[in-house]
Amino acid sequence: MIRLSGLSKRFAGAPQPAVDGLSLHLAEGEVGVLVGPSGCGKTTTLRMVNRMVEPDAGVVEVGGRDVTQVAPVALRRAIGYVIQQVGLFPHLNIADNIATVPRLLGWAEPRVQRRIDELLALVGLDEPGLRGRWPRQLSGGQAQRVGVARALAADPPVLLMDEPFGALDPLTRARLQDELLAILKRLRKTVVLVTHDLDEAIRMASQVVVMRQGRVEQCASPLALLARPANDFVRSFVGHDRALRRLALLRVADLVEAMPVGLDTPAAAADHSPALAPGASLRDALAALLASGAEQARVCDAAGATLGVLRLSRLLAQGRVAD
Ligand SMILES: Nc1ncnc2c1ncn2[C@@H]1O[C@H](COP(=O)(O)OP(=O)(O)OP(=O)(O)O)[C@@H](O)[C@H]1O
Ligand SMILES: [Mg+2]
Repeated sequence: MIRLSGLSKRFAGAPQPAVDGLSLHLAEGEVGVLVGPSGCGKTTTLRMVNRMVEPDAGVVEVGGRDVTQVAPVALRRAIGYVIQQVGLFPHLNIADNIATVPRLLGWAEPRVQRRIDELLALVGLDEPGLRGRWPRQLSGGQAQRVGVARALAADPPVLLMDEPFGALDPLTRARLQDELLAILKRLRKTVVLVTHDLDEAIRMASQVVVMRQGRVEQCASPLALLARPANDFVRSFVGHDRALRRLALLRVADLVEAMPVGLDTPAAAADHSPALAPGASLRDALAALLASGAEQARVCDAAGATLGVLRLSRLLAQGRVAD
């Protein structure tokens, strides 16, 4: 769906290229997350996808077409863009902000109005009167939701999101991440998202792209990245707690074993082994096991019926990552 091949860009007067031979492929429905130190070329890469920056070399293809061959209006319809620092138009109310691209595309006004209502509901902002407010009358989280709604307005198959949840408190951020993931899953968008936050990358990405000085140091699924960092730079970037980050991505259901004969008795149930839901993360399972001091946990469904056991030794073996 998105293919970047050998993209390079050096800004006038800059000693080094901002982006240097970058290649990346995202299939339809994938979420590629760009991470890396400030100034490593993340925003420049995004802006080359929708031609806000023209590359010096390389090709950008969206939906199989070279973007230099696509008319700008068609490109804007195909690509929604959420910019760093929200970027709502301060002189337009919320409804008019969301309506920007649909009006640019010449939609009839009743259709525009229906779309505004639909999108506000989609991002959880359907409180009465909100659509008529000014951007400065919104909280940071509300403004970021409007930014997402505006990017989705013309139903583009591709979304570019530059730090869409920057400057939010961790709780609001986590909630918006979950909401966005649910929306993306439902609407099946292909997304390139930029973040400074490794946890956000791991949570949202189908592929994490670790960048340094305009180049890709590693592009991998979150699990593969945490298990096998390609080099020292990536290893230090993902941090010494990557084993825990990795456990947070795996579920109890991934490691559950059949109950050994004889354990599924009232006596066994009365021991101190904690009960875990199959959907709990292995990180939470580890916390429960450490707190109880038990060697294994019972895995139970919502009705309390035992499905199997999770052994601490197996969990630790799973969590161990190569150095
Ligand atoms: N319009 C521009 N003119 C000149 N230099 C630029 C321009 N835009 C970006 N740069 C430079 O290109 C490099 C990459 O910038 P870019 O904005 O892509 O980084 P980034 O990875 O998005 O950083 P951050 O995480 O801080 O947002 C930086 O050195 C930056 O100063
Ligand atoms: Mg940036």
